[in-house]
Amino acid sequence: DPRLAQVHAILSELGAQPGPLLPVLHAVQDAFGCIPPELVGPIAEGLNLSRAEVHGVITYYHHFRSEPAGRHVLEVCRAESCQAMGSEALWHEACAGLGLPAGGGTTVDGALTLEPVYCLGLCAQSPAAMLDGHPHARLDTGRMSSLVARSVE
Ligand code: FES
Repeated sequence: DPRLAQVHAILSELGAQPGPLLPVLHAVQDAFGCIPPELVGPIAEGLNLSRAEVHGVITYYHHFRSEPAGRHVLEVCRAESCQAMGSEALWHEACAGLGLPAGGGTTVDGALTLEPVYCLGLCAQSPAAMLDGHPHARLDTGRMSSLVARSVE
């Protein structure tokens, strides 16, 4: 697997610092667009951790993904303040409109990944979302559908 050489380079650059796991995972995701499940073993070994520990961290942080994202990524906030302002309805409409399951995911054509996020720090302007790293606040059905439409065109 040619990716192993890159993983080893990342490990030797970042592995010796204190608390290396998160920086290593960020670097791996930057390199491959995701953290491929088959690289979890080598990462764990390189850091003297168990696979379960590494896997636990990957699943805990929503930022890390096991499969590459779509060309666009729409993160919709589903935390408390946005929920109080109707984000659940927006989330479910977006999933349904894109033919995705209730947990979100990537459209079959790879155009868009829809994923939940838990607070974007925009609570005062709830409900909020982030499209390709750009925040969009005070969303309603119309604004949400235009964000989605923009991403899949
Ligand atoms: Fe959605 Fe804070 S709860 S931005």
